[in-house]
Amino acid sequence: MAKRLRARRLDGIDHNPWVEFVKLTSEEADVVNLGQGFPDFSPPEFAVEAFQHAVSGDFMLNQYTKAFVIIIEPFFDCYEPMTLMAGGRPVFVSLKPSSTQKGEPNSSSNWQLDPTELASKFTSRTKALILNTPNNPLGKVFSREELELVASLCQQHDVVCITDEVYQWLVFDGFQHISIASLPGMWERTLTIGSAGKTFSVTGWKVGWVLGPDSLMKHLRTVHQNSIYHCATQGQAAVAQSFEREQLHFGQPSSYFVQLPQYIQRCRDHMIQSLQSVGLRPVIPQGSYFLITDISDFKNKMPDLPGAADEPYDRRFVKWMIKNKGLAAIPVSIFFSVPHRKIFDHYIRFCFVKDESTLRAMDQKLQKWKAELTP
Ligand SMILES: Cc1ncc(COP(=O)(O)O)c(C=O)c1O
Repeated sequence: MAKRLRARRLDGIDHNPWVEFVKLTSEEADVVNLGQGFPDFSPPEFAVEAFQHAVSGDFMLNQYTKAFVIIIEPFFDCYEPMTLMAGGRPVFVSLKPSSTQKGEPNSSSNWQLDPTELASKFTSRTKALILNTPNNPLGKVFSREELELVASLCQQHDVVCITDEVYQWLVFDGFQHISIASLPGMWERTLTIGSAGKTFSVTGWKVGWVLGPDSLMKHLRTVHQNSIYHCATQGQAAVAQSFEREQLHFGQPSSYFVQLPQYIQRCRDHMIQSLQSVGLRPVIPQGSYFLITDISDFKNKMPDLPGAADEPYDRRFVKWMIKNKGLAAIPVSIFFSVPHRKIFDHYIRFCFVKDESTLRAMDQKLQKWKAELTP
């Protein structure tokens, strides 16, 4: 019998929605790209200077049985293939929106875990749980009570918590980001992930970090050593210098960690108002680069958009919007496991970490859309 050349763990994870939607966006002329999560403004000057300095300096340029992993949905889509590639088995539990009272703003903090359902996902085979706060794509910032629930279950079942906190500085409306590792009994079982891309608006630099106890970090170092090994020294040096600069300004109005969320909150508010003008219903995020918006009204009004019969509605809607309205977003169902995609097929994600000219271009597209709506 012929050998199977493709590993079974690749089944189902070989399709990449990013490739599909980025291609679609680039094929249409004159599309405002609010889909992908990257800032289209420059990073702060101090970070660029640190990079230039690093480039011109001398910085040593040469250089198991299946574990069950609980993933909270919606989730940054690479967690699932990463778990599968590592030989683990993802177990999903969804944040669900609670109904809002009339007049009450629709907020990402209304998306919550059911404590009984969450507890039911933990078994003797559960090795790890992946948490993401502030969450991509919802923009939800987990509250202390929610984190305490997750923490107590991790401790009860001796589970490692992998927490992705790359948006930790991007928190709005006075909300506070809390690291789960700071809760009692959590440091020794938590790996906390951060990204210079999100911290200093340099998503292309690909420098990040993990904080945790040595007992866990030693395993991570082995993987790191034998996979990526290293990333460009200059990028690391520039990030280190940027942190030193931030330490000097910490908590003051001159701090980038103070200025960036203020700027991004203004972008968020701008986008919310603009989207509402065409009947989209944004869910107000407390953090991150993203907001999701409810498209149920469109689903009711135009249910038969072109696309494959089994294609979730949000995917068909985004394709329609790129083609007909010149606006690119990302379907939210891609942030859910396959069995749950149909349930969450009436939201799309917009990225608001954009400069003013992009937001003005968005406004023009939305104004045109609005004019077409009025008979
Ligand atoms: C939740 C989350 N984690 C991690 C990343 C990866 O960040 P970076 O590429 O800056 O390391 C992203 C990027 O979009 C993200 O949204």
